[in-house]
Amino acid sequence: MSEPRTVITFGTFDVFHVGHLRMIERAAGLGERLVVGVSADALNVRKKGREPVFSEQERLAIIAALRPVDGVFLEESLELKRDYIVEYGADVLVMGDDWAGRFDELKDVCEVVYLSRTPAISTTALIEKISGNG
Ligand code: CTP
Repeated sequence: MSEPRTVITFGTFDVFHVGHLRMIERAAGLGERLVVGVSADALNVRKKGREPVFSEQERLAIIAALRPVDGVFLEESLELKRDYIVEYGADVLVMGDDWAGRFDELKDVCEVVYLSRTPAISTTALIEKISGNG
């Protein structure tokens, strides 16, 4: 019998939407255990230039409550993916295909899989739509 596989994925998951859910469900389908790194508020400000609508503690709580998710942690830096993969014993890294090729250097520690994003939905577009600018 083959060993259970741990899958790891990362994201901000702010203003949770169906694109996030599908990514998490598909990531979970690639193994037996799914661990999700939720981007810290400070990382989001550095990466996207704005505070998330929901705080890191709220976003962690939402992701942790999802049935396909076995564990969550705070992703403090984009540069620490290798460390997180090793720390959580991940066999597979899943990223959206907007990152295609960008994490291939990690193929020496785990399998790297890029999944297609759900079309026509994003947190940024939702915020614009809700605030009347979309
Ligand atoms: N994702 C997806 N399909 C979408 C939006 C996001 O599959 N339509 C995936 C991303 O590829 C990533 C995860 O969901 O693996 C978290 O993405 P995140 O950046 O938090 O969400 P976005 O909606 O893309 O946020 P933003 O608009 O702020 O960039």
